[in-house]
Amino acid sequence: PPAFQPYRTSYHFQPPKNWINDPNGPMIYKGVYHLLYQYNPKGAVWGNIVWAHSTSTDLVNWTPHVPAIYPSQPSDINGCWSGSTTILPSGEPIILYTGVNPQNQQVQNLATPKNLSDPYLTEWVKSAKNPLMAPTIANQINASSFRDPTTAWLGPDRIWRVLIGSKRNRRGLAILYRSKDFVHWTKSQHPLHSATDTGMWECPDFFPVRINANIGVDTSVIGPHVKHVLKLSLDDTKHDYYTIGTYNLNKDIYVPDKGQVDSDSGLRYDYGKFYASKTFFDSAKNRRILWGWINESSSVEDDIKKGWSGVMAIPRSIWLDKSGKQLVQWPIRELERLRENQVNLPNQVLKGGLALEVSGVTSAQADVEISFSTIELQNAEKLDPSWTNPQALCSKKGASVKGRLGPFGLLALASKGLQERTAVFFRIFKGQDKYVVLMCSDQSRSSLNNGNDKTTYGAFLDVNPSSEELSLRSLIDHSIVESFGGEGKACITARVYPTLAIQNEAHLHVFNNGTENVQITRFSAWSMKKAIIT
Ligand code: FRU
Repeated sequence: PPAFQPYRTSYHFQPPKNWINDPNGPMIYKGVYHLLYQYNPKGAVWGNIVWAHSTSTDLVNWTPHVPAIYPSQPSDINGCWSGSTTILPSGEPIILYTGVNPQNQQVQNLATPKNLSDPYLTEWVKSAKNPLMAPTIANQINASSFRDPTTAWLGPDRIWRVLIGSKRNRRGLAILYRSKDFVHWTKSQHPLHSATDTGMWECPDFFPVRINANIGVDTSVIGPHVKHVLKLSLDDTKHDYYTIGTYNLNKDIYVPDKGQVDSDSGLRYDYGKFYASKTFFDSAKNRRILWGWINESSSVEDDIKKGWSGVMAIPRSIWLDKSGKQLVQWPIRELERLRENQVNLPNQVLKGGLALEVSGVTSAQADVEISFSTIELQNAEKLDPSWTNPQALCSKKGASVKGRLGPFGLLALASKGLQERTAVFFRIFKGQDKYVVLMCSDQSRSSLNNGNDKTTYGAFLDVNPSSEELSLRSLIDHSIVESFGGEGKACITARVYPTLAIQNEAHLHVFNNGTENVQITRFSAWSMKKAIIT
């Protein structure tokens, strides 16, 4: 890789070089956090896939180990693809992963640690019984669409269950297998869940969340105090969407709640770049943590030139919102230890049409929290009933399009004369019977280099601006702007490659490009120290 690397991140996880994709088998074992992930040891594009392995005691600083799983037996000789860890009741971790066999069929394999007293679990032993699950003529499984086993869960009937992502024609499937011993698996007649016209379901994730408490629970927990979440990664659109619903253990089916949209237009973990994500239960801190892969928005030529591709999003705590209708996500608290040199702005009115530069923070490597309240809500623009797609609305009404209440928010990674900037902002509209808040991340002017994908992203935010403040937190890290709106009710992650706004030439502004004034009720920004990720 070249020496000058303006786009490498300082506190988002990435290895020193080469291609990465999905997080695999995240877990905590003997107080050590493990991150395994899809990795090409030979280059900056996808291929030669192994499970690379790093560990941490704080989820912020990471130490690498040798690859945990790499092609070595017929059942995985053409690739060691995604999978998950399950912690057995005995405390032992066990990996299920997808192998690609000599016929290029996708099959499911098992591996266990060689030495359970090693907290780093550097060596893994593959089962002699691999593959444990395989497509056959009898089971009618599509051999090129059968992958990414979830963490397994154990019913009170002492039967293990696991999901494998699949499709039949255009119908997405979460195929269910059951086992008494984790080794002999039988395919259930019916999938746990399926949906029409969604295409291949990659990397399913299925887990319980507590009702009315933002603590996590272990994957096998069932009962009236939890709801279940099914997350699917859509190969066709590269989005992770989820529904909240009910898991019926006796019938072994999952039914999304009424009102939950079971398709790409449903709820997403992140409305920007974020894919193939996976959660795990952190038993040390009773929280569920979400890992996601952020792929590049640059050209393949540029990826090869810089020698790497892909980073991980900041691990996020994830829990059920008090409405019961969506999840909430927040960067793990440990990240705050990297904050230094806090800069505050006093509570003030930000007049329509004004911008305010923030000085005193390393703007290319910062953590920013801002809250707004609005005074003249009744002056909000009317929401056209046809504006149902938030991303399309944000693209149509980017940061430079004047409005009434909004756009207001942050200009991140901005160059001196603002030729480059990534704008993260809100707009408030008057809907039928309530105010509607739109959150946008506008990359259209993020870089003078037009070889990048500069798509604008957007989400509707379930916050009532007449009684609540509108908050935004953005984690800015050289080529990433990872934003959390409404205390984590909507997240948007952007990859950007400024040519001028790099390192000390990056600036940060608060802006209001609406005609109405808004009140800044809170502003704190921190320079971020570099995490130790080797
Ligand atoms: C998702 C995915 C998985 C597969 C892996 C291969 O990004 O395509 O479905 O197991 O990546 O690297």
